[in-house]
Amino acid sequence: MKARIVTLPGDGIGPEVTEAAVRVLEKIGQLFGHKFEFSEHLIGGCSIEKHAVALTDETLAACKGSDGVLLGAVGGPRWDNPDAAIRPEQGLLAIRKGLGLYANLRPVRSMPALFDVSPVKSENLVGVDLVVVRELTGGLYFGQPKGRFSDNGSLRAVDTMEYHEFEIVRILELAFRLAKNRKKKVTSVDKANILETSRLWRQVAARLGQKHPDILLEHMLVDTASMRLITSPASFDVLVTENTFGDILTDEASVLTGSMGMLPSASLGDNRPGLFEPIHGSAPDIAGKGIANPIGSILSAALLLRHGLNLEREARAIEVAVDRVIEDGHRTKDLKGTLTTQQMRNTIIDRIVSEQGD
Ligand SMILES: NC(=O)c1ccc[n+]([C@@H]2O[C@H](COP(=O)([O-])OP(=O)(O)OC[C@H]3O[C@@H](n4cnc5c(N)ncnc54)[C@H](O)[C@@H]3O)[C@@H](O)[C@H]2O)c1
Repeated sequence: MKARIVTLPGDGIGPEVTEAAVRVLEKIGQLFGHKFEFSEHLIGGCSIEKHAVALTDETLAACKGSDGVLLGAVGGPRWDNPDAAIRPEQGLLAIRKGLGLYANLRPVRSMPALFDVSPVKSENLVGVDLVVVRELTGGLYFGQPKGRFSDNGSLRAVDTMEYHEFEIVRILELAFRLAKNRKKKVTSVDKANILETSRLWRQVAARLGQKHPDILLEHMLVDTASMRLITSPASFDVLVTENTFGDILTDEASVLTGSMGMLPSASLGDNRPGLFEPIHGSAPDIAGKGIANPIGSILSAALLLRHGLNLEREARAIEVAVDRVIEDGHRTKDLKGTLTTQQMRNTIIDRIVSEQGD
C-alpha cells in the first residue's frame, strides 16, 4: 500500500516523540512492503512564530489531502499568556473542526509489568482494557453564546452546552461498532439527573441500544463513572461520553497505565484522514533533554495503521513489540528507568517482527 502521512510535530517534546513514531512506521513499511510518504508541517507555537497563526490554511489543506495525520504536541510557556489573542491550542481546535474529527478514542490497557508505576492499587488494575470514546466537536467547547459580559459593572461569563441529535447518534454508533469487536459492553456516561443535553443523550443511547441487542448497554452518571474508573476500572469496555466529561475522564484514565507518556489517541470523522497523537502535552520541563517517553506517540502510529489505513496486522506488530519491551523491563525516566527517547525507540524497532511467534 502507498499512503501519504502528514506529520505535525509541534512544540516541546512533540518533535522528539514524533520522530520516533516515524521511524517505527518506516520499519513497518520495510517489513510489510508498504510505502509511506511523510511530509512535515507546523502547528501550535512554532506556527505562531513563523506565520502568526497556530494553523495555516496550507497546513490544513495538506492534512486534508493526506491519508493520516500524526501530531506531536502544542504549547509551552512562551505562548502561555492567557490574554494573548493567538494561542497554540487554537491549532488543535481548528484541525479537529477542519477535518470533521468528532470522535476521540483513547484506549487504556494496564500492563502488569507497570502496575508498580501507577498510583492505583495493583489489584484494581488487573484486566484493565478499556477505550474512552469522547465526543470532540460539540458541547461546551463550541456552543454559542460564549463569552464575557459586563452587567452594570459586574462581570458575567457564559459557556453554552448544546448537542444536536445527529451528533449524539454518530458518536454512539461508533461506540457500538467498537464494542462489537471487543467485550461487547458500552457504558454511556452523562449527567441526566441535571442536564437537558444529557437527558437527550441518554434517550438517544437507549434507542440505539435496542438496535444492538448483542451489546450490553449501561448508563452511568459522570460522577459515578469517575469513581468507578479508579475503584473498578476493569469493569469497563467502551465508555462513551460528551466532550467535557470525556476530556476529564480520559486524563483520569491515564493514571491507570502509570505515565502520561504511555497513552495514544485517535481522532476520527466519517472520512479520511484521522488525526493520531499521544495524549500528553509538550512537556516543557523535559523538552530538549532527549528523555521523553516515545511510547504514546509510537502507539498512536499503531492507531493510524488500524483506524486510518485499515492495517490491523501492522498495528498489532507495533503493540506487541511495545508490550515485549515493557515486559523485558526497558524503561524511560517517567517509568522509573534510564533509557533515552532514542534508546527506547530503537529497542522497540528491534522487536518489531512481521509474524508474531505466539
Ligand atoms: N494535545 C496537546 O498538544 C496538549 C495536551 C495537553 C497539554 N498541552 C500543552 O502542553 C504544555 C504543557 O502542559 P502540561 O505540563 O500540563 O502537560 P504535559 O502532558 O505536557 O506534562 C505533564 C507532565 O507529564 C510529563 N510528561 C508528559 N509527556 C511525557 C512523556 N512523553 N515522557 C515523559 N514525561 C512526560 C511532563 O514532563 C510533565 O511533568 C501546555 O502548554 C499545555 O497547554 C498540549
